[in-house]
Amino acid sequence: MQHDGLAARHAQAAAPLVLPEPQRLALPDGAVQVWMLDDAQVNPACARLAQTLAPDERARALAYRHPRHCNAYIARRGLLRWLIGGYLRCQPEALRFAVTAFGKPVLQWPQAGLAFSVSQTDGTALLAFALDCCLGVDVERRGGGHDVPGLGRGIFSAQEAQALARARTGSADALLSLWTRKEALLKALGTGLAADPTAYTTEDDRGRGAGRWRASHHGTALSGWTCVDLEVGAAFRAALAVSLPDASVTRHGC
Ligand SMILES: CC(C)(COP(=O)(O)OP(=O)(O)OC[C@H]1O[C@@H](n2cnc3c(N)ncnc32)[C@H](O)[C@@H]1OP(=O)(O)O)[C@@H](O)C(=O)NCCC(=O)NCCS
Repeated sequence: MQHDGLAARHAQAAAPLVLPEPQRLALPDGAVQVWMLDDAQVNPACARLAQTLAPDERARALAYRHPRHCNAYIARRGLLRWLIGGYLRCQPEALRFAVTAFGKPVLQWPQAGLAFSVSQTDGTALLAFALDCCLGVDVERRGGGHDVPGLGRGIFSAQEAQALARARTGSADALLSLWTRKEALLKALGTGLAADPTAYTTEDDRGRGAGRWRASHHGTALSGWTCVDLEVGAAFRAALAVSLPDASVTRHGC
């Protein structure tokens, strides 16, 4: 989801980015680690991270017209390399990425079964990692003035549209909840919005507790998945889907 009029929200100072020591990074089986990157942190770390980027990534960074967007991309992509390099004990600049026909970035070298997903919105980015699974994360800023009925058309299933209609009060937040869940799921599946998003339904899984949800495809439950809303502060809404049962999801900051 794109946002306009970005700059004013970043006036407050944030602690500068401190990159985690690579040798301290570890990704156990069944764990999902989610890293949050605040746009206001990125400048001091950019020079170091920029050195790790491949030529195509540098070209993409330079294609951003606004320096803030350029720096945010460098930090996001550089942190992605830094963390994967740490998890896999290799140099960040040695990693090679490919992109699937649906636009999903995947690790081409080393081939280590490490799944990752990245999402960014106005002011922040999330980077999620886990082993041997399908993984998707999505974050959106709250209060974007979304056109609630219009935005979900062609995205939400009939069941989701009904849930949204029932929400009425706070419907913009209900929409963001559905939206982030749906995008997290479609990113985990690797299709993004190129699949028919209305074929999938996401709904609260109250039996498992607050912030837990489940997904189905044409009424058939996707079993063996962990689907959660992420706590990322009052300004954002975020969700994560991973094809691991009972995954342990933890949040980390730099
Ligand atoms: C994936 C998608 C849902 C992202 O939505 P968004 O809210 O605008 O953006 P987000 O910041 O949350 O996610 C963007 C990131 O998702 C990842 N991504 C892109 N396509 C993806 C896919 N099909 N599956 C999983 N992840 C994907 C990328 O890491 C991208 O960031 P990057 O370009 O900086 O590497 C949307 O762009 C989409 O549906 N793309 C697929 C469209 C398609 O079929 N394209 C084919 C031609 S490339």
